[in-house]
Amino acid sequence: MSGHFAVRRLLLCGCLGLALPSLVLGAVFVSLEEAADTQPANGTPKTLQKRSTDNNVVEVYSVTIDCTVTSRFAHTVITSKALNKANSSQEIFFEVELPKTAFITNFTMEIEGRVYVGVVKEKEKAKKQYETAVKAGQTAALVKASGRNMEKFAVSVNIAALSNVTFTLTHEELLQRKLGQYEILTRVKPKQRIQEFKIVTNIYEPQGISYVDVHSTFLSNELLPLVEKTVTDKKAHISFSPTLEQQRSCPYCEGSVIDGDFIVKYDVKREKGLGDIQVINGYFVHYFGPPDLRRVPMNVVFVIDESGSMAGPKIRQTREAMVAIIQDLHEEDHFGIVTFDDYVRVWKPTLQQATNQTIKDAMEFAKKITNRGMTDINAGVLKGVEMLRTARRDEILPQRSSDMIILLTDGMPNSGVSDPVEIHKNVREAIGGNMSLNCLGFGNDVEYPFLDVMSQQNKGFARRIFTDSDASLQLQGFYEEVSSPLLLEVDLKYPSNTVDFLTTNHFNQLFNGSEIIVAGRLMDNDIDNFLVEVFGVGYEDYQVQGQASVSDWGVMYPDEEYVFGDFTERLWAYLTIQQLLDKSKVGSPQEKDSITAKALDMSLLYNFVTPLTSMVVTKPETDDTLQVADKLTEEQRQNAERMGFTSEKKQSNLHLFQSLTLSTSNCFLSLFFIYLRSETSFLSAPKPTYLFGGWRPSLSDRASRPEDALCFNINAKPGTIFTLVKDQMSGVLVNGQIIGDKAVPPDGHISTYFGRFGIVHQTLGVNLEVSTQDISVFQNGNWVKLLWSGTASLKGPNMDLLLTKDRSLTVTLKDSVKFVILLHKVWKKHPYHRDYLGFYTLDSHLLSPNVHGLLGQFYHSIEFEVSNLRPGQSPEKPDATMFVKGHELNVTRGWQRDFRRAIKKGESIPCWFIHNNATGLIDGEATDYVVTGLFSTL
Ligand SMILES: *[C@@H]1O[C@H](CO)[C@@H](O)[C@H](O)[C@H]1NC(C)=O
Ligand SMILES: *[C@@H]1O[C@H](CO)[C@@H](O)[C@H](O)[C@H]1NC(C)=O
Ligand SMILES: *[C@@H]1O[C@H](CO)[C@@H](O)[C@H](O)[C@H]1NC(C)=O
Ligand SMILES: *[C@@H]1O[C@H](CO)[C@@H](O)[C@H](O)[C@H]1NC(C)=O
Ligand SMILES: *[C@@H]1O[C@H](CO)[C@@H](O)[C@H](O)[C@H]1NC(C)=O
Ligand SMILES: *[C@@H]1O[C@H](CO)[C@@H](O)[C@H](O)[C@H]1NC(C)=O
Repeated sequence: MSGHFAVRRLLLCGCLGLALPSLVLGAVFVSLEEAADTQPANGTPKTLQKRSTDNNVVEVYSVTIDCTVTSRFAHTVITSKALNKANSSQEIFFEVELPKTAFITNFTMEIEGRVYVGVVKEKEKAKKQYETAVKAGQTAALVKASGRNMEKFAVSVNIAALSNVTFTLTHEELLQRKLGQYEILTRVKPKQRIQEFKIVTNIYEPQGISYVDVHSTFLSNELLPLVEKTVTDKKAHISFSPTLEQQRSCPYCEGSVIDGDFIVKYDVKREKGLGDIQVINGYFVHYFGPPDLRRVPMNVVFVIDESGSMAGPKIRQTREAMVAIIQDLHEEDHFGIVTFDDYVRVWKPTLQQATNQTIKDAMEFAKKITNRGMTDINAGVLKGVEMLRTARRDEILPQRSSDMIILLTDGMPNSGVSDPVEIHKNVREAIGGNMSLNCLGFGNDVEYPFLDVMSQQNKGFARRIFTDSDASLQLQGFYEEVSSPLLLEVDLKYPSNTVDFLTTNHFNQLFNGSEIIVAGRLMDNDIDNFLVEVFGVGYEDYQVQGQASVSDWGVMYPDEEYVFGDFTERLWAYLTIQQLLDKSKVGSPQEKDSITAKALDMSLLYNFVTPLTSMVVTKPETDDTLQVADKLTEEQRQNAERMGFTSEKKQSNLHLFQSLTLSTSNCFLSLFFIYLRSETSFLSAPKPTYLFGGWRPSLSDRASRPEDALCFNINAKPGTIFTLVKDQMSGVLVNGQIIGDKAVPPDGHISTYFGRFGIVHQTLGVNLEVSTQDISVFQNGNWVKLLWSGTASLKGPNMDLLLTKDRSLTVTLKDSVKFVILLHKVWKKHPYHRDYLGFYTLDSHLLSPNVHGLLGQFYHSIEFEVSNLRPGQSPEKPDATMFVKGHELNVTRGWQRDFRRAIKKGESIPCWFIHNNATGLIDGEATDYVVTGLFSTL
């Protein structure tokens, strides 16, 4: 697996909910293997071929990620060097993931002393050139959407025998303060250990740094001291450069490599008044985010889609989020709830103050939100507007307070007024600039541009909520960001005879924990100070003025003047382009054209890859082999997600965990297997289970891809015993017995569960029987009985047991396997259900390659591919075709519950459901796994 490396540079910032700590925003890896491209969605299966890798052919010997933040402006340079050690030429790949909020500004390849530089061109022109190349069959697009917040840049080049290549990619962006901090996140996921490996971050903040936190998901206690952090008043230096030996995640595991996120969070010191102004090289930038302002009361109407398409997890997550959000309302706030399908309902006809009683009442209402009919967005939003207007008219709202509508929807309008243009018009007219409208688009069926434009037109912004187990947290995170307005209608004024080319200088709201940034150009380079004024409506009137003066960075940072160059100008250009791109979405066609033309000119002038430009990379081999890097819009990202769903190659060669738990459905035993893979794992790996040196328990890790779970039911009668894991080499056997309800439920359907497990380790002489009452252990010739009602820890030479009272039993069998059995307690007096058990494998990589059994067979790599997504019986659950083990199966999108983290409620995990007793997926038939005794082998 050498020649394969992955590491990520991430900047968490910009405009997505900070409640999502694991957002991944950037990455780079270099690999010898073919990048796992998303194939065109034509439904034809690509042959599942193993890609060959020669361990010693390409060596990536150096990777450096160097980020310099100058007054929030992040300039990141990623350099990777590789050597082709082979006698023949080799294709070498370079892949980088960068934040979707960043612009690529340069890319170069240095080969045999020659430097090949990517050229930024107008997108249309680049496309023509590119299409010619496509016809010649020469090329591929370089940038693809990746995850929620990244995009992936991938390029490959043919390198002659015994030659070096150096790839360098530069990207830039303005960090956005959210919930009181800036965040720079780097994902470290090398696939091999690298001779020279370095992450360096330098932060220069003239306002003074109030704190810098560095943490990481992969730093063990031993690695922690390797992170160097030096913070002085205005500068922070953080570096991490582990040696080859230290790049192992587990000191004893051959092939293990560190893997995880490296996160730097910081904030700057804030003083009352104007904020901070930097004037350098003829451009200025003004940061405004005063501390200690009192919150302005908020009047908010939640307008919630309860149409049929919200069925399933979405509506449940919405309920959860609403209950949490309502609890967070302040007593000075007023609020209302509107729910709509093709019919509009209200919690109360008028806005209510958030008292203990109304909060309690509204929570009860929120718990009962259910999915019903069609989607009439127009009527829902207009109802919310009317409620706010009426409350204003009747003077029940505080004079100084902020009016806001939060719309949550998951689909397109299909009832009532359903023409998007007409809805835009109706809403704009009804709102009349008197309140803000924020739109949350839930899942992939929403037309995000429709919501985006509607928000832009009404002083608000739109966000996507991704269908995932953390959707409820995404919703709450968004609310947290907007729930504390400090100032309304903020104007930042500069003398018009002194500055021009100002970026936006009027803001509808300033939220707690955020920051307003304005930049502009000085008309006269020699000006050394000018007047600045800020006005706003807050709890009290807000008005400050003062002088901005030219800062002398040479004095502030005497040793490093050369670092800063033209950052104010580039920051100004970045901000201007971003704002123009936003503005180009609204307005008349002529306005749009002129705004777009301006944004294009600036993108070209400053070499930014924006949605209007492309970077053309010419490969050295032949002059007409072109590759083109684009910037994707949110709409394109969403489309890619929809497409990717149907065609992405699934190859689950990294088992981070597998699990087996119960089902409660009508006499069916449900086995469910989860394959969580890393994002990069579709690059095939000869030693998959070693790649990450063990398993990673965290589902919240966005690198995991919960959508890759497979699940199925097996129809079996209570009493049946299945062999779940069998490894003759190591002598490990796990059997599980099914039990049924203790009485027949009123609907006549008896649920089945796992009620008993028999576990044997022949070589170690260990024997374990686990039931819902107790645990019998046979070890070293002695029997011990443990009760679930106690907590215990047993350490033996061959087996460790950790029993957590009424909850879980973790079993570690020496040098072979580790798993956990969960006890699901049911109310004692439940008329028919009873306690049951769940089984989760934590680590199986030491078992032999011959391990088998209903669960054990999935300890091996399994490759599958899902294509041809099509409507299923229920709109929430599309059908698809799965190619696996040479079979073509009809599968259905479904949900399963994972109980490892939340033993009571579980978490919903999307999975591909395989019908028909999993025939075609499992080896043989389900009946082949049935045995007669808890300790019998087949
Ligand atoms: C490279 O070429 C030499 C001589 O032709 C040969 O002996 C050697 O095995 C080759 N090495 C590889 C890695 O192919
Ligand atoms: C990109 O990088 C190359 C190599 O360092 C340099 O020559 C070139 O000027 C850079 N281009 C831009 C637009 O900065
Ligand atoms: C490749 O780069 C390494 C390190 O810079 C250098 O030692 C080596 O000589 C180079 N090899 C070739 C063939 O240029
Ligand atoms: C509301 O409840 C909180 C705690 O639950 C209590 O401290 C507060 O006094 C209550 N307010 C009113 C007005 O009852
Ligand atoms: C899968 O479903 C399609 C109809 O959607 C049917 O024509 C086909 O025979 C099914 N294939 C299998 C293997 O069940
Ligand atoms: C599944 O297997 C059981 C026997 O174990 C059988 O009775 C049942 O019909 C099978 N179901 C399907 C859908 O094949």
